[in-house]
Amino acid sequence: MVNEYADRLAASTTMTQPPLSRALQTRVQMLCLAGFMGSGKTTVGTLLARQLAWRFVDLDDRIEEAAGLDIPEIFERLGEPAFRQIEADQMRAVLGRVAELKESTVLALGGGTYAQTGAPEFLRSAGVPVIWLDSPVEVLLGRCMTMTGRPLFRDEESFRALHAQRLPSYQQADHRVDSSGDPALVVAEILSRGIVSTGSGEGHLVVEKPQS
Ligand code: S3P
Repeated sequence: MVNEYADRLAASTTMTQPPLSRALQTRVQMLCLAGFMGSGKTTVGTLLARQLAWRFVDLDDRIEEAAGLDIPEIFERLGEPAFRQIEADQMRAVLGRVAELKESTVLALGGGTYAQTGAPEFLRSAGVPVIWLDSPVEVLLGRCMTMTGRPLFRDEESFRALHAQRLPSYQQADHRVDSSGDPALVVAEILSRGIVSTGSGEGHLVVEKPQS
């Protein structure tokens, strides 16, 4: 199947996983947090990065910086397709930066990032583990009701429908962690799973060594 999103994402050479035959590789650690609006990606990601002494990047912040607009303005002025394009570009840019600077990074995706066609496959092929922060939709609703700045949070019915529509995407994540409780405990759970390895192996973005 032709997959434009995946093609777009894969367009960057820094994000294309090098053939296994290439011996010269370094390993940089990276983790992505996926999940619906209100699942705690930013809160958990900030705490997790602090505990790991890794860099924390919030994709929504990157999108706003790149566009020079806040998220509601991007949706209003440019429309959702443009937002998705910027989102894909910025995700690619973050991975490129991790590869270039070799800075271990926790990346909090936006609520819709991982639900875009090709995104799970792209992150898998880049070797980036994805943790789905999962909470009952009632918990998500309760959290989002009190917050502004989410153009896709319109009413309860559409919120529930979008959540149901995206579940199959989130289910493709490498790990699922319940995020309905205290964020510090969610972080402890992630750390206890051994998702982040301190040696070699799982949990690494494969990065090509620069040619000398
Ligand atoms: C979106 C979720 C938001 C933000 C944008 C679109 C979505 O991120 O990227 O409003 O499609 O669900 P959060 O999940 O961090 O609120």
